Amino acid sequence: MEIKKFTPNSQSDRVALSLTMLFRLLADAFFSKRYGHRAVVLETIAGVPGMVAGMWTHLKSLRNMQHDEKGWIKELLDEAENERMHLMIFVEIARPNLLERWLILAAQFIFWHFYFALYIFFPATAHRMVGYFEEQAVISYTDYLKCIENGEIENVCAPKIAIDYYKLPATARLSDVVKAVRADELGHSKTNHRMASELISGQTSKSSRKNEISSKVSPN
Ligand SMILES: [Fe+2]
Ligand SMILES: [Fe+2]
Repeated sequence: MEIKKFTPNSQSDRVALSLTMLFRLLADAFFSKRYGHRAVVLETIAGVPGMVAGMWTHLKSLRNMQHDEKGWIKELLDEAENERMHLMIFVEIARPNLLERWLILAAQFIFWHFYFALYIFFPATAHRMVGYFEEQAVISYTDYLKCIENGEIENVCAPKIAIDYYKLPATARLSDVVKAVRADELGHSKTNHRMASELISGQTSKSSRKNEISSKVSPN
């Protein structure tokens, strides 16, 4: 599966891409082809941005007393929940070892604070970075799928939690789960790139201002 990568066209985009490639290098060095373990550890991180961005947008709506007209809060919190479900699924396939458990604790502490600060001061860069993260997730799950299909990794039965969540047939295998998760990651990539672009172009503020004016003008 070929993914159409977003071409960086601003300094903010280039920073987001550089950060992504740095994280990718670290992940490659640590996990190499241990895709099950890689999925477990990285999904614990993937569940952070949607929650941070959703929470911040929610708090912003409260203090500005302005409705979240674009529905970003729900979209972002849904993303966080979807990533948490990826983790619940992959932990049935690969159990993290002690070192990975420590890594998860440290990574969550560091990444939560990093992403929170990034989101407050540079939300467009933050969304763009997640858009790029998710492109890398699609690439990694495609590599995982190739290893399953060529027999390097056993195509075990899909865990029940995945069958229930994705409404897969009872005979579903790991490859079906990876395909379903990969489709989610592609969706997250598009969503976050879209949000970054909207923030950069100022469409969000413009359209909300337009809506505000039209709701005042309209008698209904
Ligand atoms: Fe994920
Ligand atoms: Fe994702």
